[in-house]
Amino acid sequence: MITEFDEIIVSEQQIRTRVSELAAQISADYQGRDPLLVCVLKGAVFFMADIVREITVPCELDFMAVSSYGSATDSSGVVRILKDLDANIEGRNVIIIEDIIDSGLTLSYLRKNLHARNPASVEVCALLTKPSRRKVDIACKYVGFEAPAKFVVGYGLDYREMYRNLRYIAVLPEEDS
Ligand code: PRP
Repeated sequence: MITEFDEIIVSEQQIRTRVSELAAQISADYQGRDPLLVCVLKGAVFFMADIVREITVPCELDFMAVSSYGSATDSSGVVRILKDLDANIEGRNVIIIEDIIDSGLTLSYLRKNLHARNPASVEVCALLTKPSRRKVDIACKYVGFEAPAKFVVGYGLDYREMYRNLRYIAVLPEEDS
């Protein structure tokens, strides 16, 4: 059994409500534009699976896996693509689906990389953002929640690959990190 976390910052119900709101916003903005949703593995899989089922316009899914050369809790901005997209995104309306924007370095690299492939547009949809941790400015059109500058886990977010399967998002107690 996973023990219950004391400091829950986003409950299961809050996630559900916000995911529906974001999906409604995306559905309105992308009428007739058949967006391609790009999930950044692994953290964003639950968010992707939930939001795509609430989006009401025709859309496609693709996946990328990247690894940053930072430490376990800090990314360095040097990003390696472990799995690239299957789709050719030239002329497509791409929405990058992320679980969290921390320093912004991963997304900054990804945006540049995808822009170089001549898509019609690239927007970002992130469930969480930690503005206080930002090292580079990153435009994110769709944001779920602001998170405190603490290590958070759950709903895709891990600590050493654990806790991704929590239904809520919680602060990792200091003694565990
Ligand atoms: C997390 C998250 C983002 C990145 C954000 O991924 O999913 O991709 O870090 O950090 P940044 O804004 O400081 O660049 P992580 O490398 O932990 O991989 P995971 O999704 O497989 O857990």
